[in-house]
Amino acid sequence: MKISAVAVLTGLVAFARTVLGATVTASAAAAVPTSTLTQITTNFGSNPTGVGFWTYIPHTVAQTPSLIIAVHYCSGSAQAYYSGTTYAQLSETYGFIVIYPNAPTAGGCWDVASNATLLHNAGGDSLGIASMVRYTQALYNIPQARTFYTGTSSGAMMANVFSGAYPDLISVAVAYAGVPYACFAGPTAWNTQCADGDVIKTPQQWGDLVRSAYPGYTGPRPKMILWHGTADTTLYPPNFYEEIKQWTNVFNLSTTPTTTLVNTPAAPYNETTYGTEVVGYLGAGVGHTPPVHETLDLQYFGIMPW
Ligand SMILES: *[C@@H]1O[C@H](CO)[C@@H](O)[C@H](O)[C@H]1NC(C)=O
Ligand SMILES: *[C@@H]1O[C@H](CO)[C@@H](O)[C@H](O)[C@H]1NC(C)=O
Ligand SMILES: *[C@@H]1O[C@H](CO)[C@@H](O)[C@H](O)[C@H]1NC(C)=O
Repeated sequence: MKISAVAVLTGLVAFARTVLGATVTASAAAAVPTSTLTQITTNFGSNPTGVGFWTYIPHTVAQTPSLIIAVHYCSGSAQAYYSGTTYAQLSETYGFIVIYPNAPTAGGCWDVASNATLLHNAGGDSLGIASMVRYTQALYNIPQARTFYTGTSSGAMMANVFSGAYPDLISVAVAYAGVPYACFAGPTAWNTQCADGDVIKTPQQWGDLVRSAYPGYTGPRPKMILWHGTADTTLYPPNFYEEIKQWTNVFNLSTTPTTTLVNTPAAPYNETTYGTEVVGYLGAGVGHTPPVHETLDLQYFGIMPW
């Protein structure tokens, strides 16, 4: 196991920084092996539902590293998303750190329905993820501007939840086949009405829900990259348009695209942009879910050049 000098140094800088009750120390950085998916079992902060904290630290961490939170689908796992995507491999070239949260429930779905998970610092799975993000940000001195979220299906629903509840932690979120923030809100873990695309609201109503997630927050909010397929029969495509209504309202943008590009990044996807903060990729005939486009993600994250 080789520990990069940079990681140890940034760990020292972060010595004894306190993150929601967890004391982050240099020894914590030194204890994480590199180039292997590793579970962090030390106290990393409030984690009321017991979300698993898995991380991948590349052999050489960049001097000013970025952090990517990569979040799995239902029935998935940290391990499955690690091996099913290329973020970890790419981190060896670009020196960023990856967090792979692992859902605490048997079905492997994220809680995107409870009041606790929907609200800032209120609990639920989202707080466990927030705690591992804060812990890693403190340890490696990574600001919000270099912290990014990507996730598929349930992990994409969590992208919307996390962007609403913790807009202060991330600067770009990519959602591969998700639903709007609070679309699943309610007493049951699975919300058939939302999944079927039958929860339709005005942009103002959707935007108000996001603004209620963290009342009084006035800082920067994450740019949203939203993917969906027109043949999605798990989370039906109206959810794509509802997400666009929601986040364009949050950014005070029109729901009419600023630009539309056909077959972008490739057929069968069309790209629509809304100002600079919201981007949609809708794939004709694509089911659940569009494949992860890691290179494009890293370009949006500013890690790879366009
Ligand atoms: C969740 O919040 C809603 C809206 O404030 C409220 O009506 C509902 O009772 C809450 N649910 C629980 C379980 O606390
Ligand atoms: C929203 O955009 C409109 C039209 O560009 C503008 O008149 C208004 O001041 C903006 N509101 C906020 C809160 O930024
Ligand atoms: C992409 O744009 C083309 C040209 O306007 C259109 O025919 C096609 O239906 C669009 N695809 C999607 C998924 O909206």
